[in-house]
Amino acid sequence: MFNKINALYFSGTGTTRKVVLYLVESLTAKIEEPVERINIDFSLPEARIQSPCFTEKDLVIVGIPVYAGRVPNILLKYLNSVKGNGAQAVAVVLYGNRNFDDSLIELTDILSNNSFKVVAAGAFIGEHSFSKILAQGRPDKDDMKEVENFARDIYGKINRSTYFHELLVSGQKPYRNYYQPKDRLDNSFDFRVISPHTKKDVCIDCKNCAEICPVGSISYDDTSVMNGICIKCCACIKGCPVEAKYFDNENYKKHQHDLEKIYTERLEPETFI
Ligand SMILES: Cc1cc2nc3c(=O)[nH]c(=O)nc-3n(C[C@H](O)[C@H](O)[C@H](O)COP(=O)(O)O)c2cc1C
Ligand code: SF4
Ligand code: SF4
Repeated sequence: MFNKINALYFSGTGTTRKVVLYLVESLTAKIEEPVERINIDFSLPEARIQSPCFTEKDLVIVGIPVYAGRVPNILLKYLNSVKGNGAQAVAVVLYGNRNFDDSLIELTDILSNNSFKVVAAGAFIGEHSFSKILAQGRPDKDDMKEVENFARDIYGKINRSTYFHELLVSGQKPYRNYYQPKDRLDNSFDFRVISPHTKKDVCIDCKNCAEICPVGSISYDDTSVMNGICIKCCACIKGCPVEAKYFDNENYKKHQHDLEKIYTERLEPETFI
């Protein structure tokens, strides 16, 4: 049995954080022996400089958002450097009600390759980063109930098992290519070049966007200036207290509109034990 339970997550707009932390809380509540809780949030660049090292005494809940149906490629270097050393892990992905495609199987593989024993995996739904109406307000009360059920199942499995069979997770191998949005002529377009703009007359210069950008690309001195890449995580858009940040790229707006129009049917969390 473990004596440390770790939350290890990246979260641009907070939905992954919410699910991972509630899973940790729900699991901790089930354990009678004293257990230490550790929080490793690797959303900011400085948190990704050092790689954590775990042992057999750790249970690690690893959470990431789904980007283009996969593990965000910006996180691969960091995730591949985390050392499991026999620790047990739970893989968690959050997606915006389109599809989690091969992200969960990819995360599970990364963890297994890093010497984690992956006990369980789950895909949960979070409000889509690009939208305020697609999967609005999720994870909600019903999702959190599913998190509690997931904690119950994980606890049951850990208590009963002396060894783990290979976990079967939905997704395919080789993994599908990164999902590509389409422009008005139904052609793929280069999403990477798009970055947010700032309504200078609205901005109150609170610096929040510069402090929370996961790739450190918003200039602190002038927050309307980008000094690096944008991964479209929308942390600055949703985290601005006065809604001064926005995307005005036509292809981005079309993609946002398509998502909001097509993926209206509520999807439910899926867990694998
Ligand atoms: C660049 C990017 C790509 C995304 N791709 C997908 C996707 O392929 N499928 C999906 O359902 N949601 C997708 N989303 C939505 C996020 O996975 C979802 O909103 C998630 O809850 C965000 O997690 P966070 O709040 O921890 O940042 C994408 C979001 C971003 C920023
Ligand atoms: S978070 Fe919004 S108000 Fe604050 S500095 Fe950034 S753009 Fe300006
Ligand atoms: S500038 Fe891009 S990468 Fe940085 S917080 Fe905003 S959307 Fe995310």
